[in-house]
Amino acid sequence: MNVAICPGSFDPITVGHMDIIRRSSALYEHVVVAVGANLKKKPRLSAEERARLIEKVTGRFANVSVEVMEGLLVNFAREQGARVVVKGLRAGSDFESEFQQAQLNRTLYPEFETVFIMAAAEHSFLSSSAVREIASYGGEVRGLVPDEIQEIVHRLYVDEQAVANDKG
Ligand code: PNS
Repeated sequence: MNVAICPGSFDPITVGHMDIIRRSSALYEHVVVAVGANLKKKPRLSAEERARLIEKVTGRFANVSVEVMEGLLVNFAREQGARVVVKGLRAGSDFESEFQQAQLNRTLYPEFETVFIMAAAEHSFLSSSAVREIASYGGEVRGLVPDEIQEIVHRLYVDEQAVANDKG
C-alpha cells in the first residue's frame, strides 16, 4: 500500500494542517498523521491529547489514521511501511528548516522522500504558535482551527494568568 506520513507537533491542529492532510489523503492510499516531538518546542498539551484532537477532526477521512510518534521520524516511517513524508510549505521562511530536515532524513533513510504541498494562500499566515498566543489571551480562534475543536482549544489553551493580568 502507498502510505504517506504527515508529521508535526500539531499544538494544536489548525485549518492549515487540515488542508494538507485532506490533500494528502487524495494522493495516497493511506495517510498516517504522526504527532511527534520537536525538541525545539515545549508543547502545551501531551502528544496523546493532541492526537485525540486530531482524531476528532479527521474521522471523516476513511484513509487517515492518527498515531503518536516516539523517536525519529525515519524509524516511525519504517515501522509504518512508509517511504513518503508529506509536509506543508508556507512562505519561504519554512524552507530552510524543512530543507535541512528532508536532507537529514534522507541521510538516515536513503529511500525516504519528502514531498511538499504548498499551503493554500489563505493559510500562509497561520501557525499553531499564533493560535496558542491568541487562545492564551482568550481571543477568538474561529476559522483558525477546525470548528469541532474550537471550544476545546479555546478552553485548553487559555492562559488564565495572562487574561487576569490583562484585566488587572
Ligand atoms: O510541526 P513541527 O514542529 O514543524 O514538526 C516537526 C516534527 C515533529 C515533524 C519534527 O521535529 C520531527 O520529525 N520530529 C521527530 C524526531 C526526528 O526525526 N528528528 C529529526 C528531524 S531531522
